Amino acid sequence: MQNIDILVATTSGNTEYLADQLSNQLQEAGYSTTLHYEPDYSDLMESLTDQSVWLCCVASHGAGEYADSMIDFAEELHTHKPQLAELRFGVIAVGDSCYDTFCAAGRDCDAMLAILGAKRLITHLEIDMSQDDPDEKSSTWLQSFIQSL
Ligand SMILES: Cc1cc2nc3c(=O)[nH]c(=O)nc-3n(C[C@H](O)[C@H](O)[C@H](O)COP(=O)(O)O)c2cc1C
Repeated sequence: MQNIDILVATTSGNTEYLADQLSNQLQEAGYSTTLHYEPDYSDLMESLTDQSVWLCCVASHGAGEYADSMIDFAEELHTHKPQLAELRFGVIAVGDSCYDTFCAAGRDCDAMLAILGAKRLITHLEIDMSQDDPDEKSSTWLQSFIQSL
């Protein structure tokens, strides 16, 4: 069974909730999932195989910074710049359009993984928490993500 690693960048929990919903939907679609509420760089690197798929759910905080749970992971990724040619991925960026740095962390994650050689399965999704229905928007996107696997 194909496993999807779900990496979560959250500070106040909205994105954790969203990731849980997506995990349930993936399981209903016949996939196994591993939720990483505080992604550990070493663990994820060691477990990489040519079957690895990451679904990154990334909220922006600060001035476009990664939300707390993924700050360390993002720093390690930028520092070590691992070769990720085996990896396939998709990114959901969570933010609020009242900030100039709308969805900046999710955009960075999407760009960084591609720069490191990973295969982008689908254009990243941006969720504007001030306007969008996150469940509806992410569910629709997830169907395309699943089809791209
Ligand atoms: C202090 C603070 C800073 C924020 N900075 C940004 C930002 O730079 N860009 C953005 O798109 N959203 C920003 N947001 C909005 C959050 O991304 C949004 O509230 C999101 O739902 C938080 O997700 P979380 O509950 O998973 O942490 C910020 C929110 C707070 C409270």
